[in-house]
Amino acid sequence: MDSILVKGNGPLNGQIPIAGAKNACLTLMPATLLSEEPLTLTNAPRLSDIKTMTELLQSLGAEVSGLQDGQVQAMSSHNIDNHVADYEIVRKMRASNLVLGPMLARLGQAVVSLPGGCAIGARPMDLHIHGLEALGAEIELKDGYLHAKAPRGLKGAVIELSFASVGATENIMMAATLAKGTTQIKNAAREPEIIDLADCLKKMGAHIEGAGTPVITIEGVDRLHGATHPVVTDRIELGTYMLAPAICGGEVELLGGRLDLVGAFVEKLNEAGVDVIETKAGLKVKRQGDRVKAVDVTTEPFPGFPTDLQAQMMALMCTAEGTSVLEEKIFENRFMHAPELIRMGAKIDVQGGHATVTGVDHLKGAPVMATDLRASVSLILAGLAAEGETLINRVYHLDRGYEKVVRKFSGVGAQIERIKGG
Ligand code: UD1
Repeated sequence: MDSILVKGNGPLNGQIPIAGAKNACLTLMPATLLSEEPLTLTNAPRLSDIKTMTELLQSLGAEVSGLQDGQVQAMSSHNIDNHVADYEIVRKMRASNLVLGPMLARLGQAVVSLPGGCAIGARPMDLHIHGLEALGAEIELKDGYLHAKAPRGLKGAVIELSFASVGATENIMMAATLAKGTTQIKNAAREPEIIDLADCLKKMGAHIEGAGTPVITIEGVDRLHGATHPVVTDRIELGTYMLAPAICGGEVELLGGRLDLVGAFVEKLNEAGVDVIETKAGLKVKRQGDRVKAVDVTTEPFPGFPTDLQAQMMALMCTAEGTSVLEEKIFENRFMHAPELIRMGAKIDVQGGHATVTGVDHLKGAPVMATDLRASVSLILAGLAAEGETLINRVYHLDRGYEKVVRKFSGVGAQIERIKGG
């Protein structure tokens, strides 16, 4: 297994291009199942999670031409001959569950294994199931698979989510585009990826209003057609690389960066003493002094501080002046990076959903273990701020969500290399 070697670093300077969003692409790709005509996505990131979704769509009978230069992913679902999303593929990635709504809407049936994905909590699917049942689907769990059918087709309904789940909002929104009549999703997730999905579906002929607000209204249509759509910028990759100059010093410009994608995160950076300036090409980030100040952070659904940036923010807080409290309100088991950061000399006390972090002058390099996607990259950030060398094992997590991670960090002067394992 490969590992990544990071050496403690001085200031970082230069530019980092930000890719299309993994999470947006993973919901845009299943949208192809809603139409017989091709869907072309531009700005698709080159990641192993995208390969997994490609494999899943192909297993259902879709034609996917894959990633080429210019990053285009063209898909055609004129010939869906299988309605079973197999455990062997689904277990690799929770986002596989996003084929459920589209398959049900287009084929009237779907059998989808319960997913796996990052080990950051229980992550049930009850909200997806209740929403699709409200649209008239019959769903039962047998042998680890959800068996869903809608023999008389789906029918619009008013669905109030008890929690603004991103995946449930996406699955219900996609299913509702082909349902008869009007669907209203209340307490819908408001993440930029939801807006991006709605924009794409509208290009395909769907009638959707309110994406990005808590109430989304979908007027069902008989059929959707093909479209071409650019994937929105990855706000989590953006936030991650914004932390590089915050933790090491220097000045880094994030190409394609947009403030509206990272509002709550930027507020926290500013509070910690990091300047973020809009430029023509994106966002420029510069730390004010030698060390950032401790700030408290609570993760929340968008537009709040994203859970997917909590581990990386913790790495920054490990080197801050003062004590900060990080509260995780989205996933119940998302502090697995804390014990690894403690091995690097960080002072962290985790109690339930709270982590109290007291900044230290210097972290110290150590061999550490990546436990999930975002935790892995937090260890790279910590390694850049540490004295000596940090060896990060199990980096396959990183390949799921960070395109060219070594090249992007080393492009701004970081000492980082990938070591091939056996
Ligand atoms: C998506 C993102 C993930 C991000 C998360 C929260 C993708 C591919 N992944 O995941 O990177 O961390 O949003 O911003 O877009 N829940 C239930 N029942 C359900 C569904 C969810 O209880 O039916 C709970 C989950 O266990 C979790 C919380 O709701 O505690 C948030 O989950 P959700 O918003 O659905 O996240 P995902 O769509 O899985």
